[in-house]
Amino acid sequence: MSTAVLTDPKTKIRVSQSSAPQPIIQMREVCKGFGSGVTRNEVLTNINLNVREGEFLAIVGFSGSGKSTFMKLLAGLETIDSGTLTMDGQTITGPNPERGLVFQNYSLLPWLTVRGNIALSVNSVFRKWGRGERADHVEKFIEMVGLTHAAHRRPHELSGGMRQRVSLARTLAMKPKVLLLDEPLSALDAMTRSVLQEEILKIWEEERQTCVMITNDVDEAILVADRIVPLNPGPNASLGPAFTVELDRPRKSSELNHSDAFKGLRNAVTNYLVAVRQKSREDEAATTTAPKVELPDLEPLAMKLPHVSSLTAAK
Ligand SMILES: Nc1ncnc2c1ncn2[C@@H]1O[C@H](COP(=O)(O)OP(=O)(O)OP(=O)(O)O)[C@@H](O)[C@H]1O
Ligand SMILES: [Mg+2]
Repeated sequence: MSTAVLTDPKTKIRVSQSSAPQPIIQMREVCKGFGSGVTRNEVLTNINLNVREGEFLAIVGFSGSGKSTFMKLLAGLETIDSGTLTMDGQTITGPNPERGLVFQNYSLLPWLTVRGNIALSVNSVFRKWGRGERADHVEKFIEMVGLTHAAHRRPHELSGGMRQRVSLARTLAMKPKVLLLDEPLSALDAMTRSVLQEEILKIWEEERQTCVMITNDVDEAILVADRIVPLNPGPNASLGPAFTVELDRPRKSSELNHSDAFKGLRNAVTNYLVAVRQKSREDEAATTTAPKVELPDLEPLAMKLPHVSSLTAAK
């Protein structure tokens, strides 16, 4: 971050001005849990995070640690229990097309075609546009994700990778200020995943919108992100230290594999995740209060089942 010292023309007072962009999203001491009483599950505790405008941030963490819960808070689909959560200084109180979420499980409308699914979102966000302009916009995003040939198909006629593309195109077409990606590629095979990773990266490099992506794949996080923040294992999951990714862009996964900086960062993030998981297991074992029960040393008198007739006689 660089700091410029300027002189205010009216007061002649020298003021310093940071050139770092203001955070677009701010989370302060955010906590979120579900349920009440003995079934209460404290999922996220004391989450503090600034997301800078135009930044690509990756959150990495283990299954069940609260990643989707975290994303739903950012999307406004869940509300925080305590703390503050703002976008552009305004409290996030509900969903808004400015924050576009791509779900882990595609969630397309099964009765609409590829084109219909994307058009539904476009028509709801860009109501003031003319019909032709909206239609062109839909086609542009269908083409961007390489699905022009399948635009007339319904979700059940698509592969998993194609469905994920529709989901991505639908959200991108709404031109959200902040793109929220909740493990958008986790259900895909390695080849399709790698193609889509590079597509997401290409789109982001063109648009440079703020992007928060959840992933359980450290390599993927390094490929796409400016900064990687681990989510420690739950319950009471909090964020770990941020790892800055200083690799030049544009990045290609085939080239990164040979980079020492990439390998070093991968080791650092992976070692951190392994260490926090180990610690969380040890803590869990130490706090398990179930008493140790001594079992009596019993042996059955006879291993044979009683004869059926003797059971009937006993009745
Ligand atoms: N609506 C809800 N009501 C009750 N509990 C919930 C709810 N949503 C999530 N949870 C619980 O919160 C915890 C974290 O769930 P979450 O889906 O955020 O994890 P995750 O890290 O996204 O997992 P995965 O990697 O499997 O997608 C889990 O114990 C889950 O059961
Ligand atoms: Mg999840």
